[in-house]
Amino acid sequence: MPNSVIILAAGKGTRMQSDLPKVLHKIAGAPMLVHAMKASNAVQPERTIVVAGHKAELVEAAATAHDEDAVIVRQTEQLGTGHAVLQAREAMAGFDGNAIVLYGDTPFIRDETLTAMIEARANYDVVILGFHAADPGKYGRLVTDGDALKKIVEFKDASDQERAITLCNSGVVCANSDVLFDLLSNVSNDNASGEYYLTDIVEIAGSKGLTATVVHCDEAETLGVNSRPELAGAEAAFQSRARIAAAEDGVMMMAPDTVFFSHDTAIGRDAVVEQNVVFASGVTVESGATIRAFSHLEGCHVAQGAVVGPYARLRPGAELAENTKIGNFVEVKNATLAEGAKVNHLSYIGDAEIGAATNIGAGTITCNYDGVMKHKTIVGERAFIGSNTMLVAPVTVGDDAMTGSGSVVTSNVPDGDLAIARAKQVNKAGMARRLVEKLKNIKKKRDEGAS
Ligand code: UD1
Ligand code: MG
Repeated sequence: MPNSVIILAAGKGTRMQSDLPKVLHKIAGAPMLVHAMKASNAVQPERTIVVAGHKAELVEAAATAHDEDAVIVRQTEQLGTGHAVLQAREAMAGFDGNAIVLYGDTPFIRDETLTAMIEARANYDVVILGFHAADPGKYGRLVTDGDALKKIVEFKDASDQERAITLCNSGVVCANSDVLFDLLSNVSNDNASGEYYLTDIVEIAGSKGLTATVVHCDEAETLGVNSRPELAGAEAAFQSRARIAAAEDGVMMMAPDTVFFSHDTAIGRDAVVEQNVVFASGVTVESGATIRAFSHLEGCHVAQGAVVGPYARLRPGAELAENTKIGNFVEVKNATLAEGAKVNHLSYIGDAEIGAATNIGAGTITCNYDGVMKHKTIVGERAFIGSNTMLVAPVTVGDDAMTGSGSVVTSNVPDGDLAIARAKQVNKAGMARRLVEKLKNIKKKRDEGAS
């Protein structure tokens, strides 16, 4: 049976104290909404509907940037979770299968949990995801009878006896799509909040002779984010899980607590990641590569046997082939380094192609920006770029070519040539000593004048 997901993301998130809609705040480099969308991949949704309200254009842009097929529907007034789901009715027309309702601010639902909910649908019409809360607070309470779920009571509407229940509603719902919308059309707003509660569908299902049950998950999984401290907590929870997952996948980390991952970081087994490394989004590190301490990587690819850092910065478009070396205080942006190329010290390599086995000397800079446009630097294979060379782009240095240290290279260097582009050295005999004597005399006279 096919599945579709409806992600509720219309709320403003007042407690975030932010101009940005709550679901667009990021965890591990991706908006919470994208985490929820990624979680839904577990059920291979045929349709993904996002219910947007507050700053819907921004929510739509983020959703479609992640999945261009996502359909955004608007909920102009936030009249409750049931009303929110109803906004997806038209977008779900003609779909015959399970509808799964997720919240855009609940980013950590596991694949196994959603799969278990789909499986439970074989025996029940409505499946709710529940958890035992350490502090049930204002969560909706699940009223059960054995495996059967009888109803969900919102905290505001609950009796003291119902408030004593610790089994709570996560908000995730799974039901046949037509059944869900049929049940929702019976929901009223006659309750303590004056809202259309999605949760009312359980009791309505019972009155129509349909069945409901609860699938259980850990409280950590249903963690919702309502404020900045909670966002920071969610980030920390993501990071600890990512560290464990990387270690389990065979990544060697000396101090995992100091390594920070993005939602999409991919690292091969036997890669070494030293202390204090940050992976921003879009990074792939292959097996056996080494990322040394205090490096920052974003939007780049590091192949096998490459060594990066310590103190290196790889920016988007950095592409390091096998056995390349990027050393301390080196920044690489939008540049490819072919096999065995080395940039070991204090360099900027941007908008460039560096050939195999080429050595870039300390302090070398590709001057890629003329203040208006960016230009490219191409260096061939086995070239030797002398220390502190300025490669003024656009410029090409050929295979097996060299540049003298301190050169400012403004025209192409053919294969095998040595380019020297700096002032010629002149030695003035004894001049240094004479100069020092002269300066000392000047200082002495000044000091005498002052006293
Ligand atoms: C809801 C549940 C409660 C559950 C809790 C779990 C209902 C009636 N209550 O309560 O049982 O324990 O979540 O966190 O469902 N939203 C919209 N449009 C609306 C209203 C809400 O898109 O009109 C979105 C919000 O942006 C949010 C989600 O739905 O992502 C949940 O809404 P929220 O107001 O936080 O519901 P709770 O009162 O917490
Ligand atoms: Mg809530």
